[in-house]
Amino acid sequence: MDWDNRPNPFKVYSSPDLETVPLPEPSAREVPALEALTARPESGRAPDLAALARLLTHGAGVIPHRTRGPFVFRTYAAAGALYPVEVYVVTGDIGDLAAGAYHFQPRSGSLTLLRPGDHHPHLVRATAEEDSVRTANLVIALTGIPWRTAWKYTERGYRHLFWDAGMILANLLALAASDGLAARVVLGFDDDEVEAVLGLDETREFPLCLLSIGSSEAVEAAPAPLESSPIPAEPLSRRDFEFPPINQVHDAGRLERPRVAQWRSGASDGHDGSSTARGESRRFAETDALEGVITRRGSARRFGPAPLPSEILTDTLSRAMSGIRTDYAPDGSALVEPFVIVNNVEGLEAGSYVWEGGELRPLQLGDFRREAGHLCLDQPLGATSGATIFLMTRLGWILERFDDRGYRAAQLEAGIVGGKIYLASYAHRFGATGLTFFDDEVGRFFLPRSRGLECMLVVAVGDSPRLKGRRLTVASPAGAP
Ligand SMILES: Cc1cc2nc3c(=O)[nH]c(=O)nc-3n(C[C@H](O)[C@H](O)[C@H](O)COP(=O)(O)O)c2cc1C
Repeated sequence: MDWDNRPNPFKVYSSPDLETVPLPEPSAREVPALEALTARPESGRAPDLAALARLLTHGAGVIPHRTRGPFVFRTYAAAGALYPVEVYVVTGDIGDLAAGAYHFQPRSGSLTLLRPGDHHPHLVRATAEEDSVRTANLVIALTGIPWRTAWKYTERGYRHLFWDAGMILANLLALAASDGLAARVVLGFDDDEVEAVLGLDETREFPLCLLSIGSSEAVEAAPAPLESSPIPAEPLSRRDFEFPPINQVHDAGRLERPRVAQWRSGASDGHDGSSTARGESRRFAETDALEGVITRRGSARRFGPAPLPSEILTDTLSRAMSGIRTDYAPDGSALVEPFVIVNNVEGLEAGSYVWEGGELRPLQLGDFRREAGHLCLDQPLGATSGATIFLMTRLGWILERFDDRGYRAAQLEAGIVGGKIYLASYAHRFGATGLTFFDDEVGRFFLPRSRGLECMLVVAVGDSPRLKGRRLTVASPAGAP
């Protein structure tokens, strides 16, 4: 890490002539965060500019009063606070916002108009007429700039693009749900065509996923793609290094338009993990509004001694595992299987567990704090948590079924589930942090149950000394009188 060559975490366009549109102050919706994590409106209202401002400002904005040295913290967690993900919006006319392809500038809370005119039909084309993109009011696109994260994490930085994008998506999905807006994550698209709409330099910035928002009359696909013409941006640092394996692994997952529909239907054939993955959601006596929880979130830097109640761990996992609506599994995808080391949970013996059929099943009982800390790259946070959650996937099966593009889906879903774990934990007034880990050792630790599974991401949850406020109590199981 050469600090003098640290990449700028904010994208700055070279042309001073691009029009900027300030976003209005978002209004609060006062929907309880826990509810927002599981609500999934089918079809609902159309977003206006105020609703878009709420999504972007709370979903992927900065927290102005939280800066530390060179770091300006955001409304989502990001490994190493390097913020490699950029956010774009492609929309037709919506109320006070004219049709165009825009870039979201989190620091100023404004949109930069990149391409005037309605380019929604180009995304309909790029996704081979994906249902939710056709009927969306607008589409949010997330991209990843590998140099920002490879500066510190080298080739492993490729995964961070998807983990951090997942953190943003967890916010956006909950914010959309709490505003009655339908939303679907879309991974099947022609990469070249999306790059052209967003004006990306394809070797330096990758489209990661689309998020369709709202529902209205279907839009027809554009008859031809846009010509590629990257929109020049300032260099991120004096010199950026290339990491050829990152470009190779990304290119391996590229799709071209003729293959998109087939990829999506092949992938969705028989795939629906949601029914087995969801657990019983309990009702809690008091729940905080989503916006407050997003602002309160901040990765735990140390855990306190109080135990994590088992019903809060179970509720957190069950909400995080409520299926994610995607183009390849419209009813809800659940590629992730959580494995847990319980260190300090009231109502559960210490030991290793697997989340199965909506509940925690013990694998081996015993005190595994030392092992948990070691698996998390010898970081004490893995050992001092109430519970350390290892998000695993059946990667071989995923790659067979979803081709090389499946690698993106596996990492992204782990990021979304991780982001939901963060939100549920902070809604319950407990702390959480993402953690990195020794890949193969995690797989070995949970053997034999983990055979064929690979760890994608780790999140630890536990007592947060800075959230000393009253904890929530269980009122009654959902559906009970
Ligand atoms: C995918 C992911 C991995 C992370 N890994 C670690 C880690 O290994 N160790 C650690 O102390 N924090 C880790 N973090 C926490 C980040 O450092 C933290 O999110 C970042 O500094 C921004 O701060 P904030 O979350 O408080 O806003 C991770 C976060 C994410 C999202």
